[in-house]
Amino acid sequence: MSEMMTTQAGDAGAFRNFDLNRVPTPCFVVDEKAVERNLTILSDIGTQSGAHVLSALKAFSMFSLAPVVRQHLGGTCASGIYEARLGREEYGGEVATFSAGYKDADIDEILSLSDHIIFNSSTQKDRFLAKALAANVQVGLRINPEHSEGEVPKYDPCAPCSRLGTPVSQLSAGVLNGVDGLHMHTLCEQGFDPLQRTWAAVEPKIAPYISQLKWLNFGGGHHITRDDYDREGLIAFIKNIRETYGIDVYLEPGEAIALDAGILVGEILDLPTNGMDLAITDISATCHMPDVIEAPYRPALMDEAEAGHTYRLGGPSCLAGDVIGDYTWNKPLQIGQRFAFLDQAHYSMVKTNTFNGVPLPTIALWNSETDELTIIKQFGYDDFKDRLS
Ligand SMILES: Cc1ncc(COP(=O)(O)O)c(C=O)c1O
Repeated sequence: MSEMMTTQAGDAGAFRNFDLNRVPTPCFVVDEKAVERNLTILSDIGTQSGAHVLSALKAFSMFSLAPVVRQHLGGTCASGIYEARLGREEYGGEVATFSAGYKDADIDEILSLSDHIIFNSSTQKDRFLAKALAANVQVGLRINPEHSEGEVPKYDPCAPCSRLGTPVSQLSAGVLNGVDGLHMHTLCEQGFDPLQRTWAAVEPKIAPYISQLKWLNFGGGHHITRDDYDREGLIAFIKNIRETYGIDVYLEPGEAIALDAGILVGEILDLPTNGMDLAITDISATCHMPDVIEAPYRPALMDEAEAGHTYRLGGPSCLAGDVIGDYTWNKPLQIGQRFAFLDQAHYSMVKTNTFNGVPLPTIALWNSETDELTIIKQFGYDDFKDRLS
């Protein structure tokens, strides 16, 4: 099992023609045509298979694109009270909320915002079942299929002693009392085969209960919009489940909606040396791409050269480990030069923070067909200060 996740980013696509000097840095630039392309693929899966496809806001919640998302998908999946509200307010359609733990203070509002509430354990379900029934919200239980397909244990909800989902071996009539649907989320940037293997492992264990259910939700982690994804296989798989058991099927892709649809543009601030060539940039791993450290992974650099001049890129923060990685350019870098990391629309924009008072990246929308560029949002000192007291 590798410690470093491999990046699944494809190529720069239309961003190759984008002049990086058109935006202030740091800046997320999202190509709405690329998002639309992904959404078209996902809505086609929904149409052909009959599945409900929801957009996972935790991965990509650039709500200025909500009108486009709404045209293609059936709603959103939320991780708690704020995402449920964002889904309801901005996106419309169905809202399916899952959290590993709900609390009394939030439950009424969450129920008022959700069509499905998915519990992590039967204890949580029993605690809030009466309220869910009264609010006419369908109740789900997340199961742990106890079948690992994960590349990295940190991203494997079926890893030993995982807190995510009720182990399928613990299912019983009592545990399922009041449950309308089962939810499972076990994949991460994966193809169709791992889903099929997971289903093969879990189906015999849940088959006795499926007739009492209204739906099955297969969560996210499906890299459906990647070129090599077996979409026909997925369509046949969903149709077969719907026909065999007469129930609805839900998918909650997040990353697949924004895959290869955005870049993060930065600027070289300084070029010191210490045992090797270094480059300080206004992009911080810890503030702007925390998954680089957390996953960890090495983001793909646009136009990286195979050989030439290699620099260790790091952010402006005080953290010694605020290092993005070693990257090679064909010419020596210059102070003030722009560069961009690929595939940054998902799980970066949603995770930014202002540690060290590092400014948040601007958010821009680009249309790769018309070349129209819109600065959607710029952040300032107040955004930093408002989180403090
Ligand atoms: C419950 C649930 N649904 C959906 C998703 C979206 O997954 P992805 O962005 O990998 O498609 C996640 C991601 O962690 C999740 O935990």
